[in-house]
Amino acid sequence: MPLARFSQGVVSSGTSEIKRIDITGIAMCLRNGSKENMASVEEKFRTLGIANAPGQEVRQRSADVTHHRQGEMIAGDLVDFSHGDVDAFPPPPGSFERFAEAVEIGGRQAYTEYRGSASIRAEVARDLADFTGAPVQSDLGIIITPGTQGALFLAIAATVGDGDKVAIVQPDYFANRKLVEFFGGEIVPVALDYLGAEKDAGLNLAQLRAAFEAGARTFLFSNPNNPTGAVYSATEITAIAVLAKEFGVTIIADQLYSRLRYGNKDYTHIRAAGLPEEQVVTIMGPSKTESLSGYRLGIAFGSPAIIERMEKLQAIVSLRAAGYNQAVLQTWFREPDGWMNERSIQHQAIRDDLVAIFRAAGLPTRLPQAGSYLFPTLPALAVTLEEFVKLLRLQANVIVTAGTEFGPHPNSIRLNFSQDRKAAVSAAHRIVQMVQIYKA
Ligand SMILES: Cc1ncc(COP(=O)(O)O)c(C=O)c1O
Repeated sequence: MPLARFSQGVVSSGTSEIKRIDITGIAMCLRNGSKENMASVEEKFRTLGIANAPGQEVRQRSADVTHHRQGEMIAGDLVDFSHGDVDAFPPPPGSFERFAEAVEIGGRQAYTEYRGSASIRAEVARDLADFTGAPVQSDLGIIITPGTQGALFLAIAATVGDGDKVAIVQPDYFANRKLVEFFGGEIVPVALDYLGAEKDAGLNLAQLRAAFEAGARTFLFSNPNNPTGAVYSATEITAIAVLAKEFGVTIIADQLYSRLRYGNKDYTHIRAAGLPEEQVVTIMGPSKTESLSGYRLGIAFGSPAIIERMEKLQAIVSLRAAGYNQAVLQTWFREPDGWMNERSIQHQAIRDDLVAIFRAAGLPTRLPQAGSYLFPTLPALAVTLEEFVKLLRLQANVIVTAGTEFGPHPNSIRLNFSQDRKAAVSAAHRIVQMVQIYKA
């Protein structure tokens, strides 16, 4: 190491000649060192590319693909499947009123503890304990974050260091892979046979065991799975818990969509599957099912040691989730009777329409058991997937996310079907037309 060499030289010599040589040496090493650093920082941010990430598609340059265009323009209103439509599905009543009341409260609400207002944490902890079937410590075991994404970032930062192996499902939420890479972790992929399985999500448990045997000490997964809508069965969750216990693995479970389930689909919370509390962090939030994404609220709960680290980091990132917005969490899990059931029925109808359209066109598509994502498989195309996604926007006014964001899935596209039903159906037909045009 350059600094060690320099100080050894000074200690062992004392002659100005050697000092001079070593000073030159350290100057060179520092120069080289900073170059190496620069390269690694550049590399880190290069792999964080956001041009194809959900919500960013509108920033893609259509001009890049105009020369690939075949066929006519396909008319229809813009449908943006990269995220849900909060106008088609507005938030439950009372959220804005709680926000306005918080503004009236003023400073006390603006400057909460870094981990969030103690009274709001206590209310949310009770609801989350009821929902998940295992106690939540409102003082030590929960943190309110800016969005579920904020919780994911803090949780990975609190568990993954340089060179650590992390087991990650393929496909899974686009940020998981990027976060692990950003913090210097090494991804150990675990396959999800989402098209082959029906009752299970399709997790390859042999690969999960192999990942733990190879040294992975963190397992990060979303359940329901984004992008496929698969829900892990009780058998799979139990098997994951047994393996995690055997190898001392920390589980980070992103359960953002676990409230929006279809046909009373049963759901097993991994935090209630017999693991010690310190081995599990669960992440949720009101952004999606409850359409409260604009308030940027998320929750992590479970292991007090990890939550404490997350709070330390939040103290140097955002200090806290926006104080007034935190109050909106007081509407969470308190929607009017029947509200959640109605939301689920409406989404199920859109799901069924779209799955029927894609399957009729020969695009293999898993029937989501929860959440609002579809991940149809496309046939081989005459253009690249990225080009197809751009052409879809340019030629058919439909925005989708490339499957490559979720792992090595160059033949898939992801859609968030939380949209106006008629608009979603029209856009799905346009996707099928585009596939016909660009089929290889
Ligand atoms: C699985 C999953 N986790 C986290 C997030 C981020 O959600 P939020 O808007 O609460 O930050 C999303 C958003 O799409 C998601 O699908």
